[in-house]
Amino acid sequence: MRILFIGDVVGSPGRDMVRDYLPKLKKKFQPHISIVNGENAAAGKGITEKIYKQFLEAGAQAVTMGNHTWDKKEIFEFIDHAEYMARPANFPEGTPGKGIVYVRSNNVEAAVINLQGRAFLPPLDDPFRKADQLIEEAKKRTNLIFVDFHAEATSEKQAMGWYLDGRVSAVVGTHTHTQTADERILPKGTGYITDVGMTGPYDGILGTDQEAVINRFLTNLPVRFEVTKQGRTQLNAVIVDIDNNSGMAKKVERVLINDDHPFFS
Ligand SMILES: [Fe+2]
Repeated sequence: MRILFIGDVVGSPGRDMVRDYLPKLKKKFQPHISIVNGENAAAGKGITEKIYKQFLEAGAQAVTMGNHTWDKKEIFEFIDHAEYMARPANFPEGTPGKGIVYVRSNNVEAAVINLQGRAFLPPLDDPFRKADQLIEEAKKRTNLIFVDFHAEATSEKQAMGWYLDGRVSAVVGTHTHTQTADERILPKGTGYITDVGMTGPYDGILGTDQEAVINRFLTNLPVRFEVTKQGRTQLNAVIVDIDNNSGMAKKVERVLINDDHPFFS
């Protein structure tokens, strides 16, 4: 099975990139399943039901989330019936939504798990032990398990990759919005990348208006961060090829589309 995963989609520039390039990426790479991280999709913070549905209509089979999951109030109205949305699984018992979703392509099923890190992020349940629990649950149905670990610290993401090596098909990091060049297959067969990167403004700072971020550093005063709507855009993704029998990764490939790395169909 081939899985295409698109990194943090930021605001309308990111959504436009998904709309324009997801069909092209599907044509070129022929993934069986496409997943989008949508936690920044609504003006940089959270997601709406309309946007969630747009991602599915654009060709995604699952949407993963992160620390901004709850930023748009309407999430509480639709998350429980958003069948293909995974929010961080390590929120406390009883939190709306779910941390694992199952997606099918032909007759093959894959589990998609979303977890959130705890280093430099608000406290949550232990993502490592939560992963153990969800893997045990998923293995009853499938060997193909894809993990989006939404975390700030490179160390925590690497630790999750090594902790899950040989037990899941892939661990991909999200949240830091900058693609890392460390994609690899770990020794026991888990595909890994520390961060997939982001999809949205190319000339902002992590997707945010440059001036606001620079001013924050210059003044240390509170400033309003907004998704920059002008200028060039980018898409960051990763493609993981998985052996259907073993559930282990055969290949991990980064995808970077921007003016410095143009897309060739
Ligand atoms: Fe995030």
